[in-house]
Amino acid sequence: MLRTVILAAARSSRCERLVATAPLTRNMVRRFVAGPRTEDALRVTRALVDDGLTVTLDNLGEDTVTPEQASAVRDEYLGLLESLAADGLTPAAEVSVKLSALGQTFDEQLAYDNARAICAAAEASGTTVTLDMEDHTTTDSTLDILVKLRADHPSTGAVLQAYLRRTESDCRQLAGAGSRVRLCKGAYREPESVAYQSARDVDRSYVRCLTILMAGAGYPMLATHDPRLIAIGEDRARWFDRGPDQFEFQMLYGIRSADQARLIGDGYTVRTYVPYGNEWFGYLMRRLAERPANLGFFAHALMGR
Ligand code: FDA
Repeated sequence: MLRTVILAAARSSRCERLVATAPLTRNMVRRFVAGPRTEDALRVTRALVDDGLTVTLDNLGEDTVTPEQASAVRDEYLGLLESLAADGLTPAAEVSVKLSALGQTFDEQLAYDNARAICAAAEASGTTVTLDMEDHTTTDSTLDILVKLRADHPSTGAVLQAYLRRTESDCRQLAGAGSRVRLCKGAYREPESVAYQSARDVDRSYVRCLTILMAGAGYPMLATHDPRLIAIGEDRARWFDRGPDQFEFQMLYGIRSADQARLIGDGYTVRTYVPYGNEWFGYLMRRLAERPANLGFFAHALMGR
């Protein structure tokens, strides 16, 4: 119930204004977001790479409504990739892209063209692109665009969400050689017709999906902070004889940093998903919805305490 309310608030511009103008929410935002500027993203990436992590950078923004906005997002990624290469941060850092920010909602071809430009720039910078997954109405379109992008840029990866009933089958399709799949639980509010509703069913689906990916010939990216699922991931790596360069764990910036350090200490590859930019509101609300305990911290910040 609380999760539903928070995810509804994520679409409210009144709520966004309230949060943006509250005195101390900046600190709250900074816990999960590198900062508003490209330089913030580069600074945080440098620090994480120096700590032994790899990184994927997300320029925050979604639901772009004009071609000009979509071009601006594309250009931000092109500049970011150039800076990452110039600073010697590739291949340790790659980028994550939301197709809705590139125009998918109103022009799929435009989103594809913009994504293709980003994939070409990533390749020139010696790194990769992973397509984020948004709500279920976009899954087919995103996977269609992935197939087209992979024809020219085979290292392009995609996210699959274990809460969707279709995902086991998508994992089978995408478990082949050269494929990069980031498996997460899923962060949107989805109807029962398409998504498992209970945490237990989502976790079970995650285990089935991760087993398919780890048994396959692709490169699985296990994106979760859930200690039980991480332990199962470690276990499947042993079953399927996968070394630390044949899969990776991924977590979000600001969440369970001690676990990220522990996994690095154990020799695993760990990638931190680092969001940056001004459009942080929808992202922040999804993080709050995942963990209502964050709300206490957030309420204090809103009230300026
Ligand atoms: P779960 O929510 O059960 O959390 C397990 C534990 O992790 C919690 O008990 C808590 O300790 C900690 N934790 C989790 N979330 C927290 C939070 N917000 N604040 C503080 N602690 C928290 N989703 C999507 O729909 N599309 C996408 O493209 C992506 N991309 C993506 C990339 C990466 C690298 C990650 C790690 C996650 C995503 N997600 C995503 C989000 C994902 O779907 C999911 O909502 C979150 O990862 C939370 O799920 P967990 O698997 O961590 O389990």
